[in-house]
Amino acid sequence: MESRSNILVFETPEQLALAAAERFVEYSNEPLDMSERFSVALAGGNTPRRVYELLATEPFKNRVAWFKTHLFFGDERCVPPEHPDSNYAMANEALISKVPIPANNVHRIIGEGNANENALAYEDELRIYFAGLAWPRFDLVLLGMGEDGHTASLFPNSAALKETSRWVLPTRNEQLGQDRITLTLPVFNHARRLMFLVTGQKKAQRLKEVLRPQPGSEQLPVQAITPIQGMLEWLVDADAASLV
Ligand code: 6PG
Repeated sequence: MESRSNILVFETPEQLALAAAERFVEYSNEPLDMSERFSVALAGGNTPRRVYELLATEPFKNRVAWFKTHLFFGDERCVPPEHPDSNYAMANEALISKVPIPANNVHRIIGEGNANENALAYEDELRIYFAGLAWPRFDLVLLGMGEDGHTASLFPNSAALKETSRWVLPTRNEQLGQDRITLTLPVFNHARRLMFLVTGQKKAQRLKEVLRPQPGSEQLPVQAITPIQGMLEWLVDADAASLV
């Protein structure tokens, strides 16, 4: 599978969410790895919530083989699972609690407690799931983009962007003063499929800079998402794409 990237513009966030849910279903029914499992790294933040809600409803819900679907997280805020800022809480409320996915197939990043230990624990869990691989190869990774060009919890100028061996790292959102745990760039770039979900006027200027970089401009975390042997898709709404 050679590397390709596509930019798809949708009139409304709802049309974007419907297309993303349809892709999730389609990719979950593609020929999978030897173990016949479909591994997904979910995105946090607000934009993916509507996609998760749709996946928990027909005509999407009964077209996904939830028994072979494994849900991981691309990043987490260092808060308990019931906290309003928890990415797990959002995904659980919108999707996980509403579909017949086995509890063991849901791989939460532990947000409460020591971030270093929790990052190492999650890396261990990934190394067990992707046993024998130098890097995990997710079937699908969902990602968002912050107004500063961050993705997952990989923030501009963060040392984590230079990581070359760890799969999971503790980081920090300095703007919010919030500790985070995130999968690293090499993990994302070894995925089979990656899908950015970006909506809203507030992100238009940054998206233009990301997709039409000026010569010599500093690389932003989202621009470091370049799959080695995979497919990258940008699903953006008309507002976010208004300057591209
Ligand atoms: C998180 C996300 C983060 C998010 C962007 C966009 O935990 O916050 O992983 O990277 O995708 O901040 O967030 P919105 O979708 O809320 O705009």
